[in-house]
Amino acid sequence: MTQPANHPIGIFDSGVGGLTVTRAVMERLPAERIVYFGDTARVPYGVKSPETVNRYAAEIVRFLLDKEVKLLIVACNTMAAVALPTITALSPVPVLEVIDAGARSALAATGTGRIGIIATPSTVQSGAYKAAIARRGGDASRTISRACPLFVPLAEEGFLDHPATRLIAREYLAPVLAENPDTLILGCTHYPLLRPLLQDEAGPSVTLVDSAAAVAADTQRILAEAGLLADADHLPHHDFYVTDAPDRLRGIGELFLGRPLPDVHLVSLGC
Ligand code: DGL
Repeated sequence: MTQPANHPIGIFDSGVGGLTVTRAVMERLPAERIVYFGDTARVPYGVKSPETVNRYAAEIVRFLLDKEVKLLIVACNTMAAVALPTITALSPVPVLEVIDAGARSALAATGTGRIGIIATPSTVQSGAYKAAIARRGGDASRTISRACPLFVPLAEEGFLDHPATRLIAREYLAPVLAENPDTLILGCTHYPLLRPLLQDEAGPSVTLVDSAAAVAADTQRILAEAGLLADADHLPHHDFYVTDAPDRLRGIGELFLGRPLPDVHLVSLGC
């Protein structure tokens, strides 16, 4: 029986996008063990109905709770936007999510209050970022939102710097950039995988922000407050679970996390 402090942190997403949050958590908390879940068989979630996303989220949460996680990180804006009540109702352990963290990062970065938000259709439709910005004292009426549904499949394919991605990015970003934002929220955890390309297209006057660093800082604070930080000499062993194509997560993961990922397991959820 391990000490609860040395239990893993559960991080989950519809696919490979949550690796962007995982990297920030690994960098900030190198002694923490991580169990990652990416529902690669059913990605993308951002174009599915709230009912379906809620059902999938519940299945993932139950899977991770079985792994005795001490904290859950919803590393998917879409699940955070439409399924957070379901997730928190199921979880006896603390739950952190990406939307409030992204809103805080944007408010810290903006000078003009003109904030662009790019995200999946479900996240944009939910209005969750506008609500979080307003809750944090920003002016939501000055934000410009744009759904970018094709970015998730492009990132899953590993088309991180591909002419097709650039063409689509130009098309998606044009109406947002026309409103002169000084800050652009990457409101989907897949999008930071495309960050160099997006920065290139947005130009140097726009600051790109995502939730990863802020969520990692929240994780450290919550675990410290609960006395649940892993022992500093703990040598963590990370496990990655996917519902399809483990090699794809391994490939993107090794590239993005800069380390070998020997433990990518294939599992099935639901029917
Ligand atoms: N990474 C998820 C998010 O942050 C992607 C959603 C999807 O699967 O469409 O929203």
